[in-house]
Amino acid sequence: MVGKFIGVGVGPGDPELITVKAVKALKAADVICFPKSHANKPSMALGMVKQVLKERAKPPEVLELVFPMTKDELDVKRLWAENAAIVAAKVEAGKVVVFITLGDPMLYSTFLYLYRSLREGYPNVRLKIIPGVTSVTAAAASAKLPLAEMEEVISIVPSDLDPGLIEETARHADNLVFMKCAHRLKDLAPILVKAGFTEDSTVALVKRCTLPEEKVVVGRLSDVQNWDIGEDYFSVAIIKRSEFTINKEKGDVL
Ligand SMILES: C[S@@+](CC[C@H](N)C(=O)[O-])C[C@H]1O[C@@H](n2cnc3c(N)ncnc32)[C@H](O)[C@@H]1O
Repeated sequence: MVGKFIGVGVGPGDPELITVKAVKALKAADVICFPKSHANKPSMALGMVKQVLKERAKPPEVLELVFPMTKDELDVKRLWAENAAIVAAKVEAGKVVVFITLGDPMLYSTFLYLYRSLREGYPNVRLKIIPGVTSVTAAAASAKLPLAEMEEVISIVPSDLDPGLIEETARHADNLVFMKCAHRLKDLAPILVKAGFTEDSTVALVKRCTLPEEKVVVGRLSDVQNWDIGEDYFSVAIIKRSEFTINKEKGDVL
């Protein structure tokens, strides 16, 4: 039997947003692995695929790959090289190994560390990637705000980027999406004004999108300082340079 490694995007949270192709891979895999940053924190991705795995006659091996929440590049590289060795050994033994990841595997994902380590250290391992619904597109749907139309330029920005770089990026974008700690929106708003966004630019903050506890706030850039935002790593902010019609009565501001 020839083994294979498959990176599978399981979408933003709602298990119904897992693709048919992802479900097929989850049902056929010998090993399901997932990234874990803290031993005592449950994996969101694993929770999302629980039902699909339950439906299997023979449960797969479930393998937790620990990774450090550190910015020390050497530490990160070493740990992912170790994880790659574990995965490669299983694939070389003929197993189909699926790595599940939130949203899409190719967008700011822990999958990419493993993918890189496997490509570098084990070039003979057969690899496949199944895309997933990203939190970016899911957040746009939840906020009912288009991400880009016609010739608009859209930029996706990690919120903790240097403020100067955020300003420079914003100058060249019609629409911006902030990921990773988008709850920093109150600090980001003045930077966007400096970059030419107006107080009337449309803003949406979407927390925990597509999950039962989802929270969406839509308004103008001038409203942001009055929002009760609170911290949540699982948040995405969308900012449109142009004004977009918001219909509060019809539930656009939730
Ligand atoms: C490491 S990135 C993973 C992105 C993921 N691969 C994707 O395609 O959406 C983590 C960031 O994704 C965003 N995110 C992921 N899931 C989310 C959700 N359900 N609701 C809001 N934001 C989410 C947040 O900005 C979070 O800080």
